[in-house]
Amino acid sequence: MKTFAVFGNPIKHSLSPIIHKLFAEQTGILQKYKRIYVPLNNFYEKFSDFIKSGGNGANITIPFKKKAYKLCNIYTRRAKYSGVVNTIKIMKSKEILGDNTDGIGLLKDLKNLKFINPKSKILLIGAGGAAQGIIYPLIKFGCSITIINRTYKNAKNIIKYFNNIKNLNCIKLEYFSKNLFNQLKYHLIINATSSSIKGNIPNIPSLIIKPNIFYYDLFYNISITPFLRWCRIYGAKKISDGIGMLIEQAAYSFYLWHGIMPNTKIIIKKFKKNYLY
Ligand SMILES: NC(=O)c1ccc[n+]([C@@H]2O[C@H](COP(=O)([O-])OP(=O)(O)OC[C@H]3O[C@@H](n4cnc5c(N)ncnc54)[C@H](OP(=O)(O)O)[C@@H]3O)[C@@H](O)[C@H]2O)c1
Repeated sequence: MKTFAVFGNPIKHSLSPIIHKLFAEQTGILQKYKRIYVPLNNFYEKFSDFIKSGGNGANITIPFKKKAYKLCNIYTRRAKYSGVVNTIKIMKSKEILGDNTDGIGLLKDLKNLKFINPKSKILLIGAGGAAQGIIYPLIKFGCSITIINRTYKNAKNIIKYFNNIKNLNCIKLEYFSKNLFNQLKYHLIINATSSSIKGNIPNIPSLIIKPNIFYYDLFYNISITPFLRWCRIYGAKKISDGIGMLIEQAAYSFYLWHGIMPNTKIIIKKFKKNYLY
């Protein structure tokens, strides 16, 4: 039986093993899938142990997606463009193939939710591995993106990585004013920070909240996420957490490993029924 795992820190909250179990049941494929907790400085060692013990592929989550990119020696086109890897497949030749399914998974969920169209103007909060991974498919779809991040330098590095392409820019948190925000007229605001993991919200003024804007939190939880709760308190009407993205990106990983695409609609429905809001 093939063995897969999700690597991260923290990792306890990850629903990936449950989702992959449902995919395996749905498609009749036998696979093992486990969580692997990785101490912050031990990613390469842990990964190499996994390969030596016969691991066939992996998902990589917070905060190792940029490191994962470095350990691969071949890439899918979308991984190459984004510079971060969330899915790895060990090839028969033993080469390590890196893919990024976050962006395509998010885009699919945003389309399902009708939160996006090719002209959408997006404010992206956060500049970590997930933020970097979702930019290319969204820009390719036609959207424009402004990044805002706690550490400005990290947002600037992403702009540099994408070679100052059209439709992608960043602004400093301290320049963010009501006038500027009203001028920019965003349709969709995405929280791609990991602040929710510790129950926090990013340090962003509540002036970004309006009833006609869509709010999407990449994070997911068994109840409403701290960011979405805050959005709701200030009057947001159209909100979603990242559970749909999680399932869609997992399906693209499953497809890379097994060549079969699970039916995500059924699984998203199952998960959403268990949510409190
Ligand atoms: N739904 C899904 O399928 C899916 C997929 C991927 C990721 N995610 C979620 O996306 C989030 C980010 O993951 P990642 O891999 O990008 O993590 P990461 O590489 O560690 O990046 C973390 C980002 O969050 C920011 N941040 C952390 N704590 C903050 C705080 N208290 N206030 C403001 N900003 C803060 C960091 O800002 P600095 O640059 O200032 O450090 C950085 O921009 C996680 O919650 C993860 O679970 C969900």
